[in-house]
Amino acid sequence: MQRSHYSACMQPARKPAAVTTIAPMNTIKPTLQGQSPDSAGPAAGEALAAHPGPGHIRSFVHRRSHITPGQKEALDSLMPLWALPYRAAVLEFDKVFGRHAATILEIGFGMGETTEKIATTRSGDNFLGVEVFNAGVGALLKRIEACGLQNIRIIQHDAVEVVRDMIAPDSLAGIHIYFPDPWPKSRHHKRRLIQPPFIDLLASRLAPGGYIHCATDWENYAQQMLAVLGAEPRLKNSCEGYAPRPDFRPQTKFETRGLRLGHGVWDLIFTRKEKP
Ligand SMILES: C[S@@+](CC[C@H](N)C(=O)[O-])C[C@H]1O[C@@H](n2cnc3c(N)ncnc32)[C@H](O)[C@@H]1O
Repeated sequence: MQRSHYSACMQPARKPAAVTTIAPMNTIKPTLQGQSPDSAGPAAGEALAAHPGPGHIRSFVHRRSHITPGQKEALDSLMPLWALPYRAAVLEFDKVFGRHAATILEIGFGMGETTEKIATTRSGDNFLGVEVFNAGVGALLKRIEACGLQNIRIIQHDAVEVVRDMIAPDSLAGIHIYFPDPWPKSRHHKRRLIQPPFIDLLASRLAPGGYIHCATDWENYAQQMLAVLGAEPRLKNSCEGYAPRPDFRPQTKFETRGLRLGHGVWDLIFTRKEKP
């Protein structure tokens, strides 16, 4: 990440020491599904603290959605190249991406429009996108191939379990959660992703100085995000309240339409405090 990725009130996230590219990205064409078991780090149970368990409430429902022939073809042919299977084993980012670079986790990338734009602009960073939605995964796979992007990997699985079981503590330079499902009815609020136990888990996976960036167009969810992120002791707000949209987050078509209709959009950027 470079300083220019941040808004005026944002403290730049500290990169891990000595960020060095160990292999030119344009030479890498990994076969991820077939990676050997020893390419993962310690078993999750060894190092990772207890967090949302097997019975946790899901933030999504499985839906039968339309998938285009192109997205289906991308799922069939490109998953082995750019996607990793879910496994209860900690990832080693250097092996997964074939280089040493700051790694950003994106939760719920939808159709991958924002992921593609950010990964293109920030070619020096790695992006791990987690999404459950078949058509969305197919769409991002198509974008990766169409743009020749080398710095995106995908896991198609519940992000709560991915973070709990596959992400090492203190390892992420950033986390993006853009327009998570708002679950507007009060009785469904328990399904919202931004809840204290999950933010506690995410904060534990951020490196000191790393950031978590959320955006929503639901005011009530924005207020919940501000309260939950503000109550997490390892995090500090980079702004007074909500943040201006940083230059690196593109305005999506969906967001542009909402703004035209007079809806608000709220960005929140918190950083992980340095270790005491
Ligand atoms: C409202 S969409 C937003 C998509 C995208 N971020 C955007 O701004 O257009 C929320 C996405 O999060 C995904 N999602 C929700 N809960 C998830 C979870 N626990 N793990 C992975 N993806 C999830 C949904 O499938 C959906 O595609």
